[in-house]
Amino acid sequence: EKGGWSSFMAKEISEQPEAVANTLRSRITPEGHIDIPELAKVVADTQITRVVFIACGTAAYSAMLGAYAMEKWAHIPASVELSHEFRYRDAVIDAHTLVVSVSQSGETMDTLMAVRHAAEAGATTVSICNTQGATIPRESTATLYTHAGPEVAVASTKAFSAQVVATYLLALAFGEARGALSAAERAELAEALLAAPDQMAEMVQTGERIHELAHWMADTHSVLYLGRHVGYPIALEGALKLKELAYIHAEGFAAGELKHGPIALIEPGQIVFVVVPSPRDPRSLHSKVVSNIQEIRARGARVIALAERGDAAVLPFADEVIALPPAHTFVEPLLAVIPLHLFGMELAMAKGLDVDQPRNLAKSVTVE
Ligand code: F6R
Repeated sequence: EKGGWSSFMAKEISEQPEAVANTLRSRITPEGHIDIPELAKVVADTQITRVVFIACGTAAYSAMLGAYAMEKWAHIPASVELSHEFRYRDAVIDAHTLVVSVSQSGETMDTLMAVRHAAEAGATTVSICNTQGATIPRESTATLYTHAGPEVAVASTKAFSAQVVATYLLALAFGEARGALSAAERAELAEALLAAPDQMAEMVQTGERIHELAHWMADTHSVLYLGRHVGYPIALEGALKLKELAYIHAEGFAAGELKHGPIALIEPGQIVFVVVPSPRDPRSLHSKVVSNIQEIRARGARVIALAERGDAAVLPFADEVIALPPAHTFVEPLLAVIPLHLFGMELAMAKGLDVDQPRNLAKSVTVE
């Protein structure tokens, strides 16, 4: 039941901190030990030399973060493919490949068929799933359930956040098993992940501000989203939510691609959300993204920056700043996604649309 909420979507967005806390619960110790018996055998399999995530839609964006984490923490080559592309393109898969499907429903036909295809080719399969006993987990070598609770709104929100941390747990489990992470690194990551739910709860509080923004923009026809590294899947996710909920043309780009084409789209008044890396980022991605903001601002874009609280470099160039509490790089996407989910919902509501049941969409896509 949606209780006092205006929609299931509003309720489920606000449940994201809980969805993450429940998915982490009892699986990660403060010292960074991963305790997931259902994954023990797969994680100990030294034959596995690469990981391919398969998923559709929002689930595929969570998988992108999983692939980044897998390479960084476990040093295992990892990639992401859309299930429907993977299955039909003669991908090279064998007994050394771990195929990780990510699916809220566990019934998405494209993903199920891709899992079967992988199993036939001899791959080990892990299912990250939110629905106990669904078809995909039943057919997989092992399952890591997300504990987001039932998701009713057609567009995925809390399941996305839970999927992200589930992919992180998988990467950490391999990182620990393969000795790719030091004890200190594991403890730092554990602390960061266990702190995420409280930081996410702060982001849920941006609701009123986002409500105002959405009303100010209700007649817009196009919104762009930019992000880089862990912010890139979040840009894609923000754009997908706006398309499906508010029926507004939206695109997410890797910020580094801007000069390779998309900057031609910028004209006066174009709204652009930018997920800004922390100024503490050691790879100077922060200053690169701030330069991107200057470039689009000079061409008349209206910039809404999602930036770390106190990030003074962004202030002179952004029309609006949504502040994020300082967090670990891999926690930042869990924070930035919440105002973008809220924005999709609020803009749909400002247009008088049904946010729980967008037109032409079904909660689980059980046909190819
Ligand atoms: C977007 C959305 C869809 C699903 C996709 C996969 O908000 O809900 O893109 O993420 O259809 O569904 P599952 O996770 O059930 O396989």
